[in-house]
Order: sequence, then C-alpha cells, then structure tokens
Amino acid sequence: MNKLNVGLIGFGVVGSGVVKFLTERKKFIARKFDTEFVIKKICDRNIRAINRTGLSKSTVFTTDYNNVINDSEIDVVVELIGGLKPAEEIMMTSLRNGKHVVTANKELLAHKGKELFTEGKERHRDIYFEASVGAGIPIIKSIAEGLAGNKFNGVYGIINGTSNFILSEMTKNECTFDYALKEAQQRGYAESNPTLDISGMDSAHKLAVLIFLAFGKFVDIKDVYTEGISHITHADIEYAQSLNLTIKLLAIAKKSDDRLEARVHPTLIPKNHPLASVNGVFNALLLDTYPTGDVLLYGQGAGQMSAAGGVISDLINLALRHKLKSAARIESLVKENPTLKLKKMDDIEAKFYIRFMAIDKPGILSVISGILGKHGISIASVTQKIHKRSSAVPVFMLTHPAKEKKIRLALEKISRLAIVRSDPVAIRMEKF
Ligand code: HSE
Repeated sequence: MNKLNVGLIGFGVVGSGVVKFLTERKKFIARKFDTEFVIKKICDRNIRAINRTGLSKSTVFTTDYNNVINDSEIDVVVELIGGLKPAEEIMMTSLRNGKHVVTANKELLAHKGKELFTEGKERHRDIYFEASVGAGIPIIKSIAEGLAGNKFNGVYGIINGTSNFILSEMTKNECTFDYALKEAQQRGYAESNPTLDISGMDSAHKLAVLIFLAFGKFVDIKDVYTEGISHITHADIEYAQSLNLTIKLLAIAKKSDDRLEARVHPTLIPKNHPLASVNGVFNALLLDTYPTGDVLLYGQGAGQMSAAGGVISDLINLALRHKLKSAARIESLVKENPTLKLKKMDDIEAKFYIRFMAIDKPGILSVISGILGKHGISIASVTQKIHKRSSAVPVFMLTHPAKEKKIRLALEKISRLAIVRSDPVAIRMEKF
C-alpha cells in the first residue's frame, strides 16, 4: 500500500472538511488507488476547537506550523490558512524541506505564483492547487491536463460563489445585499474577510491563476481591472431582466494579437446564455479553446465539501505520481509567453448600460446626452419609468459599443452635474 504522511495547516471550514472527506472515503481510496493518507500533524491557532472525530489517536496537534513544515516524516503539507502571510513562508519552507504542497490559496498563487513554481521546479517538488479556483470543480486539471495541447482564446468565469449567491438571492427573493451576504457567510461560502468576495478581488486572484495556466503569463494583480458588486441595486437587476439580460460578476481573460484583456466586473449577459443560468453558490467557467472549441465547467464553487473534494483529488494525484516516480507536474505546468502584454482597460470596447439618479425636470436628458455625444458615445435607448417632481428618479440608458476611456471621462463629467444625485452606475455587456 502506497502511504503518504500529511501535515495539515489550517483546520477551519475546508481543513475539517478534508478530514471528514478522507474518513468517509478512506476504504474506497485504499481499494481503488492502493493508497493511504495518514494525517500525522494538524496545526491551527485554536487547537482546543479541533473536533477530533475521524482522526487517529496518533495525530499530533500543534499551534506552531514549524512543527509541521520541519517534520522530516511528512511528505505533503496541505496549506489551508489562506492569505499571504505566513502562508508564503509555509509553502516555500515546505518545498525547500523536500515536501510537496497542496493548497487552496488563490491569493498567494496570484501574488507569488512565479516564485513558488520556480522553487518547486528547482526542488522537483509539486504544488497542487485544484481547490484554489471553483473549489471541487476540476478546473485546474481541465486546463492543465484535460485540454493539454489546446490554444486558449478566452476564459469567462463566474468564479466567486459568494457574489453569485448574493446576486441570485437579490434577483430571486428580492432580498437586500446585506441579508444575502450574511446568509453566504453562515453557509461557509465567504472568505474570512468577505470584502475580498464582494469587491471582486477573490475573482481577480482566481483569474490570475487561470491566466498563468491558460495563457502563460504571471500578471501583476494590480493590472487586473477589478470591480465588485456592492453598487448593484435591485433596480439594475429588474431593468436588466426587462431587456432579457442577467447581471453576473464575470472574470474575463481573452487574447487577440498578443494582447490580453484581464478584468473582473459585473457584466450583462443574454438571459439565454449558459452562464446566465448559473445561480446561487454555483460557479461556471467557459473556456474558448482551439481546436476543441467551447468547454463549460459547472459546479458548486464554494463550501466545505466541494473545496475538500478539490484537495483530496490533489492528494490522490500526487500520491499516484509519487508512486510512479513521475516528474513533478509543475515541470510542465506553465510555459511563459514573453510577448503577451496586457491590454489597457481604457482601450477595451463594450456596449454599456448606464443608470443615473437625476432630478426629474425638462431638459435634463438633453444635458446628459449632450455630454455623452461630445465624447463620441452613441445612445441606443433611454428609459425613465418613474415620474416624480422635485426628486431624483432612475434613468436607464444603453449605448452602442464605446471605448472604456470615453465612457469613464463622460461619466466623470455627468457625476459633477448638480442635477445628478449619485454616482452613475455603468455595467458592461459581454458578447461571447
Ligand atoms: N469565498 C470564495 C467564494 C470561496 O465565495 O467563491 C471559494 O474560493
């Protein structure tokens, strides 16, 4: 029997899920893969809170991760604490100490992926990270292995379960943003700092991981345009629906002529597009590939057992490679493309939905449309449903395709008008 000693660092929602999964599936894993995982040590800041169900009596508990990463008997370190520090030191030292690493840490991979992979390659130690994007949906393996040999033209993803859950709840149950967020936190979907989810940053971290896998570029996360969902109101959702459109927080990376667009923002997509029917905590990733064509991956993108499933599949894959004495997967995981550059956000072109809260007086629309016209933005339609003397009402506009820069400059001007009562909301439409 192939035996791997595991050191688990972080025993929160996902860490305890990993133990639960391993306990439940132990016999199956032993029978099918001839492999046993022994959890030798568990490290968590709060060892008193650790529920020992399913753990062997010989499992050691510690509050000091050094006891795990310096233990010569541990083959694989599973890092599930998230964040940059001390996760970077944990992963680097584990690799230097000859251990493989399994992680769900998209933030660290987005910031330090290149350094970690260089270290892994030099040491011939692997880094597996299936649960970093889409939890247990096999996204990483699909790009790295299932679609090996393909060219990637674009990736379009709903890759934050919390945001998708919030937008879906606001649509379906007409509940408030805050209520839906609390529900997502209670269900264990949100990050310990939920700002990462709703600001779009978590999606941006995951997009950075997808970009190095699919396009061979380690982006600087600051260069990924990132906008969250907290300014989206029920009025936007309702208006979108009346146009047969749906608002989704999309992470988009697409390539043409050695230029890569990399952006995360609320996006209007046609209601009949497959991504529009992805609701709740579900995630989906549409991969535009050549020559295989479009591939759609779908599943529960956050939550304890889905994320634990991603970690377990990594452990099994590692164990099988280890047993066969194969080269580390990391050796051929990323082939950097030195000529690929990021396209500036200002140069991106899209149709826009714009909502203004404007005073309801004659002549207001001509002022607003005059500013848009001066910036070369052509209006496709205007709607004002409510009529209220002396107070602000929502005005919805759709534009023909326009350059991002022109929209930004026009909206800055419009938001300074006394007749406009809050910052205009602009949502890009995506054509696939
Ligand atoms: N907070 C993340 C989400 C968890 O909501 O998608 C999975 O990475």
